[in-house]
Amino acid sequence: MGDKVDLGSLITRKAAGEKLTMVTAYDFPFARLVDEADIDLILVGDSLGNVVLGYPDTLPVTMDEMLHHTRAVSRGVRRGLVIGDMPFMSYNVTTPEAIRNAGRFVKEAGADLVKLEGGEAVADTVAAIVRAGMPVCGHLGLTPQTATQLGGYRVQGRTAATARTILADALRLEEAGSSMIVLECVPDRVAARISASLRIPTIGIGAGPGCDGQVLVLHDLLGLGVGDFQPRFVKRFGEVADATRAAVSAYRDEVVAGTFPAAEHSFTITDEELDKL
Ligand code: KIV
Repeated sequence: MGDKVDLGSLITRKAAGEKLTMVTAYDFPFARLVDEADIDLILVGDSLGNVVLGYPDTLPVTMDEMLHHTRAVSRGVRRGLVIGDMPFMSYNVTTPEAIRNAGRFVKEAGADLVKLEGGEAVADTVAAIVRAGMPVCGHLGLTPQTATQLGGYRVQGRTAATARTILADALRLEEAGSSMIVLECVPDRVAARISASLRIPTIGIGAGPGCDGQVLVLHDLLGLGVGDFQPRFVKRFGEVADATRAAVSAYRDEVVAGTFPAAEHSFTITDEELDKL
């Protein structure tokens, strides 16, 4: 495993055409495994709500839940940069509250950056968090925390007018000091155009190959989801749900049959000591 990823090097890597990798993680063991795979950016996403906590969407996720999971991830990561995803309403009310909450991710949970959703509407907040000394990752396109306002979970920027707004938001976030921007569910050629217009890297999810990096939700790429729905942009690189079901069923069968535990899984006592018992 190499040295800790240097945030400043991401712009150089973008300029050199080197793709960046981001994956979500929510706990210590997966954070460790993801880090061992040399993933550059490890996002403790508020997708935590859907993926791990069983909520219907990301809206109920609290600061306490995010901090709890970000702490666990930070303990497992040595090389990648850890990004704490600011939950809904942790940065939307006042700028001082946003700075304080961003500070909790860094100070209490070991995050290297914080992520928040939105463009022009949050640009001043982004600038204030950056001024307070904390790097920020933006998030444009389909922003799940405001999906209702966007008409649901759908591709954003399919008209010239809406694509122009996303581009303007991206430029505004760059100007505000964002270190990178996640582009979610944006047409590939729009995302490529935005990526080419920015100095900072874009990280795409459902935004095509023209982004400077890619992110997927870990449970999606592992095939570890519990529901049937799979967004078009997900590629399953494993079938971990099937492997888990098979392993747990095999365990259950062996316990019921009395073949587990076997001698090699058991501890012994001498005959002499047993006789005394
Ligand atoms: O919460 C999350 O996991 C995210 C990614 C999908 C980018 O925001």
